[in-house]
Amino acid sequence: MKYKRIAQVKTPEAFADYLREIGVALEFDVEMQVGEDAPLAQLYGGAGFKIGNRFCVQPMEGWDGTTDGRPTELTARRWRRFGESGAKLIWGGEAVAVLPEGRANPNQLMITKETLDDLASLRKTLQTAHSQRWSTNDLYIGLQLTHSGRFCRPNDKNNLEPKILYAHPLLNAKFGLDEDFPVLSDGEIEEIIVAYVRAAVLAQEAGFHFVDVKHCHGYLGHEFLSAVDRPGKYGGSIENRTRFLREIVKGIRCAAPGLAIGVRLSAYDFIPFKVGEDGVGEAEIWEGTYPYAFGGDGSGTGIDLTETHKFLSLLEELDVRLVNITAGSPYYVPHVQRPAMYPPSDGYQLCEDPLVGVARMVHAAAELKAKHPGLLIVGTGYSYLQEWLPNVAQNVVRTGMADFVGLGRMVLSYPEMATDILTGKPLQRKRICRTFSHCTTGPRMGMVSGCYPLDEYYKKRPEAALLKEGGKK
Ligand SMILES: Cc1cc2nc3c(=O)[nH]c(=O)nc-3n(C[C@H](O)[C@H](O)[C@H](O)COP(=O)(O)O)c2cc1C
Ligand code: SF4
Repeated sequence: MKYKRIAQVKTPEAFADYLREIGVALEFDVEMQVGEDAPLAQLYGGAGFKIGNRFCVQPMEGWDGTTDGRPTELTARRWRRFGESGAKLIWGGEAVAVLPEGRANPNQLMITKETLDDLASLRKTLQTAHSQRWSTNDLYIGLQLTHSGRFCRPNDKNNLEPKILYAHPLLNAKFGLDEDFPVLSDGEIEEIIVAYVRAAVLAQEAGFHFVDVKHCHGYLGHEFLSAVDRPGKYGGSIENRTRFLREIVKGIRCAAPGLAIGVRLSAYDFIPFKVGEDGVGEAEIWEGTYPYAFGGDGSGTGIDLTETHKFLSLLEELDVRLVNITAGSPYYVPHVQRPAMYPPSDGYQLCEDPLVGVARMVHAAAELKAKHPGLLIVGTGYSYLQEWLPNVAQNVVRTGMADFVGLGRMVLSYPEMATDILTGKPLQRKRICRTFSHCTTGPRMGMVSGCYPLDEYYKKRPEAALLKEGGKK
């Protein structure tokens, strides 16, 4: 099936018609508002927050740190551009590992005593870039803390060294692990909790306003939520599956008082997908109820947010107010996590219009916001909207479906989009992310990440030509 490219949808009427045609319910504002009354320009205040507008830069790593976990000039450039974007909420910058063995790749940043000064200066780089144009007293910056769990590749980009919580029948098979591949013991989990708390203390020293205790995309925090078969205190009941989070939060409150805490959450998940007929993505086969998709309805591809609501109620109880709603995982359901017209090299051809994936995320965030109005909710998955991103974003914030619009890939290709929207400038169409996925395929081919097709700096790098070939696979 052929899906229409967004660049071909030129008028609000045509966009509304196309959404109807593909059966996607997604509201958008036809008229954009500019100036201090514009919904996207509103300050998010109260309860200790002062965040100057409703744009959030999503965490995005570049596979470009040193092997001892420090940022390089490429990392600094990305953070500088995050600061220049004009967005006032910086959600984590990028995934930063709390332990060397918990890195997703040998070039992931790490937070340790040794790298503390480097991370502090990375934060300052972002803040200074921002202050050259705007005040920084309403900029809110967090650091995303991660352990990559099942997807650790700490020593070799091509070699998984997984730390798993339970034998997942499909994921163990997909990534070449035997059924009896060892799982982390409760004692090892306790050591990881200590590492998170230590990392949070260091993040506070480095001047970050908050830390994100990442629970998304198939990494360790997220895997706890589906550890329904795991015996002992970290598996089974929802209470046990959230013990990891509760113990980290308790530890941070005690060791780093005053540091705010956030959680980026895959609010729902799907059964892993595989390349099917004609290269199109299809769900793995499963008989009966599929139990391993947190926020799923048991069918493998449906959503039931009952447990997700419970998780958010727990966050409220813990006074964790910052929540970033994302979904799925880039490793086994990229179309759920990162809607794109062109799949990454380890993905599959489109099994749905990417707008379906965008709307799914927008609606999940809205449902969660409606039941948990006191939480600061960031929505994800907007980049695929391209020309229509501003219109959907304004509608979402104006109607209270989310408090912040998160920008991921769009910030790599066109960091100033938020500023252009806020100041009413026409969008720079040549810089709009067209979801070519080279920023995902690059690292899959062992390269640093970046927007090779549209960012002048990356266009000139030798990897750009290689990707043109490899990315077509
Ligand atoms: C190159 C790249 C790196 C990413 N790195 C991270 C990361 O470190 N942490 C994280 O939570 N999400 C990461 N993501 C996911 C994004 O934050 C975001 O959820 C995703 O790209 C969908 O949003 P978008 O449609 O605006 O791009 C990454 C995405 C890309 C493309
Ligand atoms: S490489 Fe550039 S255009 Fe392609 S998905 Fe990434 S940010 Fe968008």
